[in-house]
Amino acid sequence: MAYAAFRSIGAYVPEKILTNEDLAKMVDTSDEWISKRTGIKERHIAAKDEFTSDLGVKAAQKALDRSGVALEDIDMVVCATISPDYFCMPSTATVISTKLGMKNVTAFDISAACTGFVYILSIAKAFIESGMKKNVLIVGAEKLSAITDYSDRGTCILFGDGAGAAVISATEDKSEAIIDVHTGADGEYADLLMTPNGGSGSAHDAVDVEAGSCFMQMKGNETFKVAVRTLTKDVQEILKENKVASDDVKHFIPHQANYRIIKAVGDALKMREEQVVLTVAKYGNTSGASIPMAINDIYESGRLQAGELMLLDAFGGGLTWGSALVPFSPKK
Ligand code: UT7
Repeated sequence: MAYAAFRSIGAYVPEKILTNEDLAKMVDTSDEWISKRTGIKERHIAAKDEFTSDLGVKAAQKALDRSGVALEDIDMVVCATISPDYFCMPSTATVISTKLGMKNVTAFDISAACTGFVYILSIAKAFIESGMKKNVLIVGAEKLSAITDYSDRGTCILFGDGAGAAVISATEDKSEAIIDVHTGADGEYADLLMTPNGGSGSAHDAVDVEAGSCFMQMKGNETFKVAVRTLTKDVQEILKENKVASDDVKHFIPHQANYRIIKAVGDALKMREEQVVLTVAKYGNTSGASIPMAINDIYESGRLQAGELMLLDAFGGGLTWGSALVPFSPKK
C-alpha cells in the first residue's frame, strides 16, 4: 500500500506591511485593543497587481525546490483559497500550475475557508493512498485584502495576505506517513462568517457587486466561542483515536486566527508553551494559508526537523474544521 508523506514546505508573504497603528488611522481602533484581543501586531498586504496565484506560485516554488521532486513528476495541484484570482474560473490551482510551467496536471481549488489547508492535505492523502496520484502540490493562498471591508473594524484588523505550499508524495515507508486527517463542517452556523454578496444566492444586483460589496462579514464573538469548543473536541478525538499523547507532539500548529483561541485550545490540550507555534502577531489571519506559513516559519528558523510530529488544527467559515497528525518526512 502507498502512504502519503509530507515532504517539504514553502511560504511567501508580500512586501507591504499594515500595522495596527496604520489601521487606527482608518477605523476606530487602537494597537492596544488589537494586541490585547487578538495578539496581532501587523499583517502583510499584496500589491494591486499581485494576485493570489502570484503569492501561491512563490510559496510553491520554494516547496518544490526543497522537495527533491522534479516539476514534471507533480501530477496534481490543489489550492485552498477563498480569494481566488477569478470569481468562477479558471481555478487558482490551474493558474498556479501554468505559471510554474506544468503541463497536463490535475488542478482544482477547494473552498473550506480557514480550514482549507487541512482539507487539501486530506485530499492529497486520499489520492496518494488510493494509488491515483504520486506527487501532489498543495497550496493555501490568500489575498484577503481583496475581500476585506476596511471600514469594518470587526474584521479589517484581523486579516492579511500570504501563501504556503507543501509537496505530499507517495512512500512505502509507514514511519513517514501522514497518520490521520480529520475534516468536518456544519452549515447551520453559516451566517457566523460569510461573504453574503456576489454569488448566485446574492440578494444584490450586479451594480453592488461591481462596487465591491463582496466582503467578509463575521459575528466575531460567537465564532470565537464555537471555535474553541469545536477545535478542542476535534483535536482530543484525533489524539485519542490514534493513541497519540499531547507530549508526543513536537509542534502544535493551529490556524492563526486569534492568540486567545490558540491559548484556550492549547491549555485544554495541556500543550506546553514550547510546543505551540505562533505567527499571528506578524501575519494576522491568512485563512487557508496560515498553517503552511506557520510550518514554514519553524522550518526556516531550524526548529522543524525530519521525523518530528506536527499536530495541525483549523476552524473557519462554513463552518468548517479539521485537524491532522503529520510527521515531517523530507526525502532521505
Ligand atoms: O479564522 C476563522 C475564524 N475566525 C475567528 O475565529 C475569529 C473569532 N473572533 C475573534 O477573534 C474575536 O471575536 C474578535 C477579535 C473578532 C473580537 O474580539 P471580542 O473579544 O470577541 O470582542 P467583541 O466582538 O465581544 O467586542 C467587544 C467590544 C465591543 O464594544 P462594546 O459593545 O463592549 O462597547 C466592540 O464594539 O469591542 C468593540 N470592538 C472594537 N474596539 C476597538 C470590536 N472591534 C473593535 C476594534 N477596536 N477593532
